[in-house]
Amino acid sequence: MNPYTLPSAALISFLALLGSCSSSKDSGAAGQGEGANVIQVSVTAPLDLDGRAYDHAMTVELPPVEPQEFEGLHNVFHLSDQIVSGSEPHGDAAMQKLADLGIRTIVSVDGKAPEAEKAAALGMRYVHIPIQYSDISENEMLRLAKTFRELEGPFYVHCFHGKHRGPAGAEVGRLVLDGIPRDEAIAEMRQYCGTSKKYEGLYRLIAAGDIPTASETSAFEYNFAAREEVEGVVAAMVILSRAHDNNESMMKSGWKPDPSHPDLDPINEATQLLQGFESAASHAEVRTAAQDFRSWWSEGQAESATLLDSVKSIQTGDESAIERANRSFQAVQAACTDCHGEYRNDI
Ligand code: HEC
Repeated sequence: MNPYTLPSAALISFLALLGSCSSSKDSGAAGQGEGANVIQVSVTAPLDLDGRAYDHAMTVELPPVEPQEFEGLHNVFHLSDQIVSGSEPHGDAAMQKLADLGIRTIVSVDGKAPEAEKAAALGMRYVHIPIQYSDISENEMLRLAKTFRELEGPFYVHCFHGKHRGPAGAEVGRLVLDGIPRDEAIAEMRQYCGTSKKYEGLYRLIAAGDIPTASETSAFEYNFAAREEVEGVVAAMVILSRAHDNNESMMKSGWKPDPSHPDLDPINEATQLLQGFESAASHAEVRTAAQDFRSWWSEGQAESATLLDSVKSIQTGDESAIERANRSFQAVQAACTDCHGEYRNDI
């Protein structure tokens, strides 16, 4: 449970109470949004869930739509005129594409610090609201809802791959801006974006969670920061997730520079993987974790170090090191999966 949510919950119900006593005209008074017009679409009622929200996401059948793919921009869905969901924009072409699509505000729910300056140079604003796979806290929900109501759309909402957390964030936008029914919102997550059934917490929140009202979001103080600091395990995961994908493509090219990925260097990528583990190894979150958590962490770190040695040998022409590198990387992957099975997936 996020400790920040406790004081804010009390504050919000207090302010909501105040809000309900005053006229609706002054509802924007305490807000910090740029737009004078705070969006007042009412959010549809929570579903009365009988069973898993993921299963419920099939009760509405959506017309089939394929994701759009652009250079550096994947799994893109135009959910409405105001809300587009997709992957992190990789590179300048992707950022330019977002500007060409008319996006005004980019919302990242991923842990990695966004490239806010690049977006600003193209006239787009970045808002960074990192969320977890398990849930969206009350404070994060207020920031999301306020952003959609008070900043300028269309919005592009992304996480890393644009499949799980990003779509959940985008659906908050669909609820507060487009006022769509909850069953349709979860259907979009499942039938379009491909949000995994492992993330029942995200489904449940969109299906049945509390979405703040416009007066609650306008009373909530928030500066729409373009960068929130994350630390410890979450910060390490930002490094590890990218390093993991890059090392996986290095493995396919036999751990040698791959002409189709000129930006990836095998030694650098293996170094990143090792650094991801090292970055939080002495952080209290890891040091004080349970025994099995710590041993998966050390296992991942040790195998990454071995991988780096093998990858260096491969660059000097030692072909026999390829097999060792593959084995080490697979052992790292096993550490990721084993630890996530116990500590991340919230089902
Ligand atoms: C020892 C445990 C452990 C290991 C090993 C581990 N992770 Fe994680 N990972 C976690 C936990 C715990 C979370 C959830 C953090 C949170 O959201 O609070 C997480 C979250 C993530 C996330 C989501 C991050 C976010 O922004 O919320 C990604 C992506 C990820 N891990 C990738 C990896 C990859 C790739 C590896 C292996 C190279 C790996 N992890 C190894 C424990 C681990």
